[in-house]
Amino acid sequence: TGTCFAEVGIDVTCIDIDSKKIDNLKQGILPIYEPGLEEMVIRNSQKERLSFSTDLAASVQGCQVAFIAVGTPPGEDGSADLKYVLAVAREIGRSMTDYLVVVTKSTVPVGTAAKVRRAIAEELEARGEQIAFDVASNPEFLKEGAAIDDFLKPDRIVVGVDSDRAEQVMSKLYKPFLMNGHPLIFMDIPSAEMTKYAANAMLATKISFMNDIANLCEIMGADVNMVRRGIGSDARIGN
Ligand SMILES: NC(=O)c1ccc[n+]([C@@H]2O[C@H](COP(=O)([O-])OP(=O)(O)OC[C@H]3O[C@@H](n4cnc5c(N)ncnc54)[C@H](O)[C@@H]3O)[C@@H](O)[C@H]2O)c1
Repeated sequence: TGTCFAEVGIDVTCIDIDSKKIDNLKQGILPIYEPGLEEMVIRNSQKERLSFSTDLAASVQGCQVAFIAVGTPPGEDGSADLKYVLAVAREIGRSMTDYLVVVTKSTVPVGTAAKVRRAIAEELEARGEQIAFDVASNPEFLKEGAAIDDFLKPDRIVVGVDSDRAEQVMSKLYKPFLMNGHPLIFMDIPSAEMTKYAANAMLATKISFMNDIANLCEIMGADVNMVRRGIGSDARIGN
């Protein structure tokens, strides 16, 4: 996400508490493989639009938008562990100096943006500061292996906001990605948070269903690829 924003000319600093990861990224060594990403990281770092740091407090100064994109590992009952997300929110609250839009990019349950808002507000109150801020939800739909293309040419961008000011900031941020006419969909925050889970559940349902049909085809001597073609042209079903 950070690299693709830098690619369209936005100044980005990516923060991680893992100093080894940050040291590597500064040298163009990436923790993941995505086709085309390494060259893009190196190019944008050289142009000084993209930098990497472990120092959130210093980097948040002068920022207009902060994306929280830390892990949300599932617990034994399947619920997402929000402790990393809320730790970042608190750190932002402890260090921000000007109006900021704080966006949750991690996959988080409905209601998380409200918890992020509370965490930031509590930290500001502890500091005795009254700095305006907004929270927003911007779920990520990109596919591993096609992440750059999905980000630069998105089929849709979903953003949940609850203030005009945040909507203006997010519109400006995403403007360069909308050249292909695909929509930036603004909605309320809980709906944006729910959209990610609805999309994940629908995709999982389709995959499970097709896997079962494939098993059944094998038993019955049918060819699942022909069955898939046979049903895919029905607009109600899709490919
Ligand atoms: N990977 C994907 O393709 C993908 C797609 C859609 C959504 N998501 C969501 O994005 C989120 C992140 O996923 P990921 O695959 O990048 O996880 P990851 O575990 O690879 O990376 C998370 C990073 O956060 C860092 N971190 C933890 N606490 C921190 C803190 N307080 N300050 C700064 N950095 C901190 C960790 O050191 C780690 O490097 C998850 O919620 C995931 O569900 C991921």
